[in-house]
Amino acid sequence: MRHLIDIMDLSVSEIDEMIAVAKDIIAKPEEYCEKCKGKKLATLFFEPSTRTRLSFEAAMYELGGNVLGFSEAQSSSAAKGESVADTIRTVGAYADIIAMRHPKEGAPVVASAKSTVPVINAGDGGHNHPTQTLTDLLTISREKGRLDNMTVGLCGDLKFGRTVHSLITAMSRYQNVKFVLIAPEELRIPEYLKQEVLVKNNMDFVETTDLESAMPELDILYMTRVQRERFFNEQDYLRLKDSYILTPDKLNNAKADLAILHPLPRVNEISVAVDEDPRARYFEQVLNGKYIRMALILKLLAEAK
Ligand code: NCD
Repeated sequence: MRHLIDIMDLSVSEIDEMIAVAKDIIAKPEEYCEKCKGKKLATLFFEPSTRTRLSFEAAMYELGGNVLGFSEAQSSSAAKGESVADTIRTVGAYADIIAMRHPKEGAPVVASAKSTVPVINAGDGGHNHPTQTLTDLLTISREKGRLDNMTVGLCGDLKFGRTVHSLITAMSRYQNVKFVLIAPEELRIPEYLKQEVLVKNNMDFVETTDLESAMPELDILYMTRVQRERFFNEQDYLRLKDSYILTPDKLNNAKADLAILHPLPRVNEISVAVDEDPRARYFEQVLNGKYIRMALILKLLAEAK
């Protein structure tokens, strides 16, 4: 059974192929509207979500399939003490494919070991978020026409931001990608990621606290929210939450073809005035999330046959 737990579960050519399918869906949506007729997707969200859950559901509807599930742990039997493994075995009796978000790192891998249908990790704690990464890659590909030869700035909470972890891992497989990692000292990327991905693959990267001096060289600026729910105390969150606020003046020395991305939700880290700048691409990114999830559902269901 093929699952998507970590972005490395997919080869580069599989990712490239899914991006091509997503672009084909964008061009010819009518050719896909019955591909999942009679199939059901379950969305099991033990943690809050707007885009990820609704884009999965919209994706399945646009493929002609149906959706069931829950959007908070409190409304499922998890509130009665049921294990993730038992929940998954149950849902596998009703659905053909499962997308699951959980606050505990590793919960989706535990679930997949017990599942009779494909399981997609829709975010596990501060660890990974592979379908956001597929969304980000489709967005970068559509914006730039390539996924190699570029400088990518990642700014904000690089410690707890799971989308950052998956994106760095994915992009380290493309040629000549440089990362500029912009974060307060306390929110730098985890050491394991630095050693096992960046150092091991001989990636070109710098760590800095200064967004403005990094700006001129960036092709992509990936902003992130400070992940309040992962902090051990509120005091630290309050001290760090406004470390970076992107405002129009800070873009004065940015490239004309910079693409500004953000997995969303935004709190304070991009001022709404930036939304008017043509380089702000985060709402296009939202739409791409639906198309790439359509491509992913198609792929995993085809392989599960
Ligand atoms: C992200 C997540 O859940 O990790 N949101 C998303 O899925 N688009 C980012 C975040 O919550 O900050």
